[in-house]
Amino acid sequence: MSVIFQTLVNTGKRHLYRKLLNSSRIPCKCLYARKCTDVPKKFLSFDEVVAQRRAEARQSIVVQVNSVASFNELYGYCSKYATVNQIHHYKNSAGEHFMLIEFSSEDNMKEVLKSCGTHHKDLDVMPLKSPFLWFRATVGKKDSFPTPSVSLASIDGGSPVEDEKLLLDMSKCSTVSDQIQLLYDKTSLNDLGTRLRYMVARQIECVFDSLYSNIAVRPFGSSVNGFGKMGCDLDLVLTNVLTDELCSPGRRLVFQDKKVEGGRSPWQRHLESVGELLELRVAGAGRVARILHARVPILKFAHDFTDLDCDLCYNNMSGVYMSEMLWQFGALDPRVRPLTFAVRRWAKSVGLTNPHPGRWITNFSLTLMVLFFLQQKTADGCILPALKDLVKRAEKEDIRIAEENLNCTFLRDLNKLPSDCYSQNNAKLETLLLQFFEFYAQFDFQDKAISINEGVPVRKPNALPLYIVNPLEQALNVSRNVSFEECERLKLEVRNAAWQLEGFDGNKEDDWGLLGLIEHKSTKGLKKLLRVGNSHRLVSVKDLFDNSNEPATDTLKSKLQRLTPKSDKEVNKSVKEMQDMLTNGKDKNRIKFKNSQVENQVHRIQRDKIV
Ligand code: CTP
Ligand code: MG
Repeated sequence: MSVIFQTLVNTGKRHLYRKLLNSSRIPCKCLYARKCTDVPKKFLSFDEVVAQRRAEARQSIVVQVNSVASFNELYGYCSKYATVNQIHHYKNSAGEHFMLIEFSSEDNMKEVLKSCGTHHKDLDVMPLKSPFLWFRATVGKKDSFPTPSVSLASIDGGSPVEDEKLLLDMSKCSTVSDQIQLLYDKTSLNDLGTRLRYMVARQIECVFDSLYSNIAVRPFGSSVNGFGKMGCDLDLVLTNVLTDELCSPGRRLVFQDKKVEGGRSPWQRHLESVGELLELRVAGAGRVARILHARVPILKFAHDFTDLDCDLCYNNMSGVYMSEMLWQFGALDPRVRPLTFAVRRWAKSVGLTNPHPGRWITNFSLTLMVLFFLQQKTADGCILPALKDLVKRAEKEDIRIAEENLNCTFLRDLNKLPSDCYSQNNAKLETLLLQFFEFYAQFDFQDKAISINEGVPVRKPNALPLYIVNPLEQALNVSRNVSFEECERLKLEVRNAAWQLEGFDGNKEDDWGLLGLIEHKSTKGLKKLLRVGNSHRLVSVKDLFDNSNEPATDTLKSKLQRLTPKSDKEVNKSVKEMQDMLTNGKDKNRIKFKNSQVENQVHRIQRDKIV
């Protein structure tokens, strides 16, 4: 995104640049301020973006209102106390209306908070000072306010695009690459979505301010790593802020503190009490669940004002640095995020990912798989560098040590990365998506692990079905939860997807291109299986059932040859097996699974896809 801005500014197209800035998808306004005044830089750092987002949250409030029509009154009322920068409107799933108001400074916002009243004279309700407020209706004659000098920055700006509309728009695209870009543009977390996430973090920070000195609550994970979609969960971490300045011996007066005694981890005990506070004191937070025995203990809660499912943990800075690393890879080339969105969406629709934790692959692992694929060298070079290249180039200011002495040091300022380390080819998104599936269709999951540190496959240290090296803790496998069956399904689905995309001949039927990969089974159903003139499909029923039909066998053979590292003999055998299976409906060639439900599911997919 910053590259686009830079180009527009440099080429004098400032009107387009401003238009982009006013759109809801702009990361943050610091871009505008900085780009016009400073020495031009190609990349912003993650820390710069986060600092700007946190500052925005400190000068903003979220007010529950009656409806979008409350805008004039609210604007007029707040303007009595402070200067309003902008106001966004959104609704939560309960149909309640809210306005996020950004003031021109934090002091301005504090003036507004000072003006706040409390609830009814109800002794059971103990109000809480936080940036989440509601706008009381006036009794009697209403004040009259002039028409605001600004209009609403967004109306109903928090709602994700409806699937039907998205799919329809995608069907009207000119190319598969356009479909991928559209999917990203329409479903990625927008400006308001990001602001609300920082507001929730700020609210918790405010509540805990009196309990902890110098704490920060930071969003991490998909809310900030550039791979978040509208409605994704909010991962939060509560951390101590230990700057050199705060720890300086020159500061002679130091807060007394308290070490937690007892056998259990202090973090577990802190989290327990934080859970109580969330339930009792944080307006909007509810349904708190304590998961304290996990490797990283967390509190899960729902934030009703913003409709966010939140996970709060303590002192997990490695999660923040991991988000920073993903954000950087996404910033290096404009194709990284759209491609990842397409892959994640495909994985969701074929049932490879699941909102509940379990034995399936996660979005985080899929993201690492996309990054790893983009690190592969082609004739023109690679699109992304290996992480080890960023580590090698790190300087003193890049040193970061997380909990348990975890070294999270890598180059933070991407402007220092030589341009021949990334974006070394111009492949279209469409090509990259197909190559992604082909790459994993041929990947040796049996013996090799995926490591974005190295950028090339490495030997697997154990026999787990899927091994993806944790980039910041290389002794760990981020996909250790993935079962044998799920890994088999992954292999099968990447092949099916490659076949399906490969078979696209430009004929825009109702599920052409990316649509064929991401439309839900329920919407495709039988209609699709029975479609006459299945020309875009790689293998049709007729072709497979008709043994005399040599071209079909040839096509199947050539695809298999390309997608699998098999010899001619092996390919012939596979083709024969697949045809036998379909012709005779026999189960004897089935892969053996421990779980019969999974077995049936795998074979249902295999059957559906081939047909
Ligand atoms: N994380 C990690 N190691 C893991 C799993 C997760 O460091 N084995 C960190 C990553 O920074 C990840 C974050 O925790 O982004 C949050 O994890 P999760 O919520 O599972 O993934 P998200 O990236 O947030 O994706 P989603 O949209 O599915 O929530
Ligand atoms: Mg998450």
